[in-house]
Amino acid sequence: MCGIVGYIGEREAAPILLKGLRRLEYRGYDSAGIAVVNGTLDVRKKLGKVDVLSGEIDTHAVLGNVGIGHTRWATHGIPSDINAHPHVSSDGVFALVHNGIIENYMALREKLERLGYKFQSQTDTEVLVRLIEEIHSSGNTSLVESVQEALRHVVGAYGIALVSAEEPDLLIAARNGSPLILGVGKNEYFLGSDASPIIEYTRDVVYLNDGEMAVVRRWGYEVLTIDNVKLDKAIDRLDWDLQEIEKGGYPHFMLKEIFEQPKSVQNAMRGRIDPANKSIRLGGLMEYIDVLREASRIVICACGTSWHAALVGEYMIEGIARIPVEVEYASEFRYRNPILRKGDVVLVISQSGETADTLAAAREAKEQGIPVFGICNTVGSTISRETDAGIYLHAGPEIGVASTKAFTGQITVLAMLAIKLGRGRALDEDLLDTYAEELLNIPAKIEEVLTQSEEISNIGQQYSYMSNFLYLGRGANFPVALEGALKLKEISYIHAEGYPAAEMKHGPIALIDQFMPVVVIAIKDSTYHKVLSNIEEVVAREGAVIAVTDADSGDLERLCKHVIRIPSTLEFLSPLLSVIPLQLLSYHIAVQRGCDVDQPRNLAKSVTVE
Ligand code: AGP
Repeated sequence: MCGIVGYIGEREAAPILLKGLRRLEYRGYDSAGIAVVNGTLDVRKKLGKVDVLSGEIDTHAVLGNVGIGHTRWATHGIPSDINAHPHVSSDGVFALVHNGIIENYMALREKLERLGYKFQSQTDTEVLVRLIEEIHSSGNTSLVESVQEALRHVVGAYGIALVSAEEPDLLIAARNGSPLILGVGKNEYFLGSDASPIIEYTRDVVYLNDGEMAVVRRWGYEVLTIDNVKLDKAIDRLDWDLQEIEKGGYPHFMLKEIFEQPKSVQNAMRGRIDPANKSIRLGGLMEYIDVLREASRIVICACGTSWHAALVGEYMIEGIARIPVEVEYASEFRYRNPILRKGDVVLVISQSGETADTLAAAREAKEQGIPVFGICNTVGSTISRETDAGIYLHAGPEIGVASTKAFTGQITVLAMLAIKLGRGRALDEDLLDTYAEELLNIPAKIEEVLTQSEEISNIGQQYSYMSNFLYLGRGANFPVALEGALKLKEISYIHAEGYPAAEMKHGPIALIDQFMPVVVIAIKDSTYHKVLSNIEEVVAREGAVIAVTDADSGDLERLCKHVIRIPSTLEFLSPLLSVIPLQLLSYHIAVQRGCDVDQPRNLAKSVTVE
C-alpha cells in the first residue's frame, strides 16, 4: 500500500528510483513521483502508472544523486497530479513521501491553517510536511530534529522518506507501522518499502522497526529512535534472486506464480519431510511444538486469501491432529476485546508479513501473554520478526496482487503442521504417515492440473461476459470456493460468492437462472453424493455448472456443462489441487475481459493501513 524508494550515493538517482518504483508498483499504482536534489529540488509527479512518470522524465531529464520516490494507493484525496507524492515544503526546500495514514491529520491541518499555512492537496501527508516546516522554521532545530519532533505529534501509521535541497548529503527515513528497509551498499544507500528495489544493488539490509528512523549520509548511516536514542542494528542478508521478481517470459506475474506452484509447494516441504520415515521437522517452531500440541485451542488470525488458507487449516488441524481451532478475521479479532485463556495459542498467517490488521492481532495476543506464531512468506517482514516463532513458506516473492502460490504454500505448511501436531497425540500413526507421504506427491499432481490451462481458458471464454458467479464446495473445499470467488472478483470485477454447497438451499438458490454460472468443487469424498444432489438442484433451475472433480464416474458429465478433472488425493489435501483450476479460470476470464491482471483497480498487494 504505497511504495517508497530512496537513493543516496554517486550514481544518477532518477533511473534507480524509477526502476525501484516499477518493482514496487504492485503496492499502489494510481500515481507516482520522484524528488531529486541537485542544487535545488527537482520534483516530478504524475497521475497514472510509473510509465507515465517515466515518459515525462525521458523528455526532461532529472539529474542528481540523492532522491526519493513514491507510488501511491490513495487513502486521503483522489488520485491526481496534486495529490501524488512527493509533497514539498512551502519554500520548495524539502520533499517527503509517505506510506500509511495520519489519523489526526484534520486537527493538525486546522491548527496549521490557523498559523497561516496553505495546503494544495487533500492528503494527510501534506500536513506532516507543513508540520515539519513549522517546527524547523520556528525553532533552532536541525531537519532531523524537526522530523523527530513532528513525528511525535502524529497519530497513525507511517513510513516516510525525506530529502532537502539545503542538505544535499542527507536522506531521512522513519517508520511506524509501514515497512521500510535500508539497503547498505559501498558508498551508497538504498531505501525500499520492501527488498525488491534494493536487491539488484546490494543484499545487505537493515530492517527498520516501528519507532525507528535512519539518518543516511553519503559516508554512512545511523539508526535512531524517534526520541533520538542511537541503536546498534544488525545488517541482514537478503536471500532472494533477482529473477524471482521478474516475469520470466510470462505475460503476467499472476500466471507465472500459478505455474510456479509445483516448485513453491515443493520448496515449502524441502528439508521438512523425511521421505524415509515420514517425520516432519519444522525448524522455526521446534522448541514450541509441544506448546502447540498441548494447546487447548489454536486461534488463527488472517485476512483475505490468508484467511481462506486458515479455514483450510482449521479442517486439517481439527481433522488430523484433533486440536480445536478457531479462525478469525484479524480486523475483527483486534477490536472486539477477544477472550484468550491460558492454554490458547494464536497463529497469524500473512503472505507479506506486513498486513496491518494481522500484525495488530498478533500484538493484541502478545499483550495478553499468549504465545503467537506466524506463517509468513516474506523473510524479515514485521510479523515474522514480532511473533515468538514461525514457519516461512519459501514460495519466493509473490508480485501479482491476486495471491496464488502463497495460498498453496500456506496450506502445505498447515498440512505439515497438522501432521506434526497429530504425532504423539495417540492418533493413528499409519494414517499420519500416509498424509506425509501423499503430501510429497502433490507437486507432481499440481503439474498435471496445470496442463489443462488452455482448456480452462476455453471454458472461461464462454462465461467472460457474465456478471455473477457462484462457487460451491464442502468440507476443506468450502474455503476453496471462497478463494475461487475472491480471485474472480479481484481481477475480473465480476461479482462472485462462495458458499458451502449445502447452504445454497438457504438463500443463494434464489439467484440461480441461466445467467448464473456455478462452479462446484465435487471431490469424491464423504459428501460427494450430497454435492451431486446440489448440482442437480442447480441444473433443475437452468444454472450452468462447471465442476472440478477427481471422480471419474460419468455422473458429472451428464449434469454439468463442463468438467475439469484433477488427480485424486487425500480429502484434507484436495484444496491444494482443487484451487488450481479456479486460479486459472479467474486469470483467463480477466485476460479475456481486458483487465489489468497484476494491478487490478483499487487493490494493493500489501495492506499496511487499516
Ligand atoms: C489475495 O488475492 C488478496 N489480494 C488479499 O486478500 C490478501 O490475501 C490479503 O490482503 C492478506 O494479505 P497477507 O497474506 O499479505 O496478509
